[in-house]
Amino acid sequence: MSDKATLEYNGQKYEFPIIKGSEDELAVNIKTLRGVSGGLITIDPGYKNTGSCESAITFLDGEKGVLRYRGYSIEELAEKADFLEVAYLLIFGELPNKEQLEAFHVDIKNESHVDEEMKKILDAFPKSAHPMGVLSSLTSALIAFNPVSVNVTSNAEMYGAIVRILAKFPVLVAWTLRKKKGFPLDYGDDSLGYVENIHKMMFKKPSQEYKKNKQVIDALDQLLILHADHEQNCSTSTVRIVGSSHAGLFASLSAGISALWGPLHGGANQAVIEMLEAIEADGGDTKKYMAKAKDKNDPFRLMGFGHRVYKNFDPRAKIIKKAADKVLEDLGIDDPILEIAKGLEKEALEDQYFVDRKLYPNVDFYSGIIYRALGIPTEMFTVMFALGRLPGWIAQWREMRLNNEPIGRPRQIYTGANQRPFVNLDKR
Ligand code: SDX
Repeated sequence: MSDKATLEYNGQKYEFPIIKGSEDELAVNIKTLRGVSGGLITIDPGYKNTGSCESAITFLDGEKGVLRYRGYSIEELAEKADFLEVAYLLIFGELPNKEQLEAFHVDIKNESHVDEEMKKILDAFPKSAHPMGVLSSLTSALIAFNPVSVNVTSNAEMYGAIVRILAKFPVLVAWTLRKKKGFPLDYGDDSLGYVENIHKMMFKKPSQEYKKNKQVIDALDQLLILHADHEQNCSTSTVRIVGSSHAGLFASLSAGISALWGPLHGGANQAVIEMLEAIEADGGDTKKYMAKAKDKNDPFRLMGFGHRVYKNFDPRAKIIKKAADKVLEDLGIDDPILEIAKGLEKEALEDQYFVDRKLYPNVDFYSGIIYRALGIPTEMFTVMFALGRLPGWIAQWREMRLNNEPIGRPRQIYTGANQRPFVNLDKR
């Protein structure tokens, strides 16, 4: 196999090196293209064929439905690891031993306070504010109270920023939910596990003792693992490009939260449940929504279906679908929405339009059903996605900084007016 690619244009031949990854993926390295060709660039809307970086964090094979974090399969991690372990693995590259995991958790717990002044910022939001907008703002506001976490240069400063945000972000998530419920904004309990503490902060009722439900915590832990990273998706690419200007970790994460909010990305889990509820209200008429999804004149898409990379089943959707059955059974919940989802999936997988376009359920299709069963309000579903993706965003930001990657600045092809003389106002 050749280690070079040749581009021929206008009678000139240009050679570019081929980069081969550890899973035999191949890329043409065109970083000299513009210089050697006198100005040629490439263009690729949505970056469907363009790699932004070399990364050692997550590998996915869309054709085979494979997803691995640092070489470990998502199936094994979802079954055998816990979320804090996976966060450590993604960020630092290896599964932690007992001491490393304990020390990591202690460092996080020592940073779990959030400046009381932050509550004034949260208070300024109307209860109707979407939690993703609140969280993006609060994450950015954290910078003002943690200036040391801005332009980190040493490994120690980087580690400090990382444990700080892993500690404080769950508090902001809990406070955002509690504000909507009119509950007091308080803290969790450092004696609990990382995910159990998140659940307690979110759901402890003011006048009742917190009651641990192992099935709920295990389901939440697994969901967070399944959302933890996904290579160069829209929000992660946003974190990387904002981070490439050295704007700092918290500012990069705040931008990533905004990107995830979109219904074509992380916002899809909320849109899926709203779609399924609409179908239920419509008497379960899935055929009508299938027709809408296929109608080119209708902007409606079957939410939770399709994926930029997976042209096979999203392995996370398979795991979540199984978990949805188990959680509902464990909690004794009979949710008609699950049956509607399964019916819709069956229809879509047999429909030529979806088969031809290789549209399968993605991570967002079933996750909302579990979040509902866990008592999480629909508007908080994408926040739960952000909570899960936090370690992945951190890992990708850290890799970009440690690799000293240049500031991201794509080029363009200009299609506007050619030069023309200014016309004074009285002449227009
Ligand atoms: C996430 O990138 C990641 O890794 C993201 C993510 C992660 O973990 O970070 O996996 C999380 O964002 C999952 C995706 C959640 N979004 C949704 O479920 C929203 C619904 N899905 C679509 O909007 C769409 O499938 C995307 C956005 C996910 C992918 O869009 P692409 O890759 O740009 O594909 P496309 O728009 O070019 O579609 C190709 C064809 C088109 O039809 P034709 O023009 O070829 O006739 O498929 C059609 C599309 O109209 N199509 C759909 C569809 N998705 C694609 N038609 C109906 N319903 C859909 N859901």
